[in-house]
Amino acid sequence: MKTRTSSLLRPVLLGILAVSMGMAALPAAAQTPQAIQAALDAALAKFKDVKDGKNADYIPALAKVDSKIFGIALVTPDGKVYTAGDVKSEVSIQSISKVITMARVMEDQGRDAIVKRIGVDPTGMRFNSIVSVEFAQKALGGPEINPLVNPGAITATSMVTGKNRAEIWKRILDYHSDFAGRPLAVNKEVFASEAATNQRNKAIGALMYAYGFIKDNPDQATDIYTEQCAINVNARDLAMMAATLANGGMNPVTRKQVLKAENVPGVLAVMAVAGLYDDSGKWLFRTGLPAKSGVGGGLMAVSPGKFGIAVISPPLDEAGNSVKAQLAIESISNALGGNPLAPKRL
Ligand code: DON
Repeated sequence: MKTRTSSLLRPVLLGILAVSMGMAALPAAAQTPQAIQAALDAALAKFKDVKDGKNADYIPALAKVDSKIFGIALVTPDGKVYTAGDVKSEVSIQSISKVITMARVMEDQGRDAIVKRIGVDPTGMRFNSIVSVEFAQKALGGPEINPLVNPGAITATSMVTGKNRAEIWKRILDYHSDFAGRPLAVNKEVFASEAATNQRNKAIGALMYAYGFIKDNPDQATDIYTEQCAINVNARDLAMMAATLANGGMNPVTRKQVLKAENVPGVLAVMAVAGLYDDSGKWLFRTGLPAKSGVGGGLMAVSPGKFGIAVISPPLDEAGNSVKAQLAIESISNALGGNPLAPKRL
């Protein structure tokens, strides 16, 4: 027999459910659709002419991407999509893929698999630092890095199971597509360009194998990692990924439970401490939002229970994070009361 809940009681019960699930007390609906759209439009207008930063060029194909792409998307847990600017243009996902592959491993093997093999602590060093691996090994004595820097990310990719390379790759690509809610594809030019110039990542893969973090076939792990970084996404795709995390692991549009709700806090915790590399602390201080950047120019951020947001703009700062994406997300989130560390606004 179906239980009926009176329409008056339903919002109250949903509120109690949200709070008991650890979600912030203010639902996204506290903001009107007009206010949300206005916040996106205002950020687009305010930051569109910012000229700071420059495209990544250590991957040659990234230097050629149009620096003027500037797209903003925000998705709420009820599946409403808000956009401003260029949300059609695609860029390679780059390091944002590290979140999805980390989630894949947690989903398959439990969240402690990541803690035990890789670690969940910030390194305070560049995303492709070799010194950080040496330091963790020699001074800290083990898995004291995280899956969002290259050594941890290549290790996480090596932990995805499958009969052969093709099956492992399909599981990774399909998982990215589930988060985005549409089938994604690889940018072949970016993949070829990075594969031809990723000697440093190959060295990192070999080092992680030498220390026993990667159990087998480090070259394959680095190659698959390079391919996952070349998956093409637009701002809407990234916002949908972020919204899936904001919505307890369920894609808010397809309604597929992509990640178990119990694994979401762990994913967000690693994003909070390491999502913007050595600038993660500054970012968290300004916004309170777990987030992840990529050298393709994408940045996604999660306000748990409220929204997922993403911006694409290729010019990067010194740490490798999109300049305009940081400005736009900070401004929009603050306008909407998105900071989860400050749930009660005065
Ligand atoms: O491994 C690399 O260097 C790139 N495929 C990804 C680096 C990246 O996106 C760092 N992001 N800020």
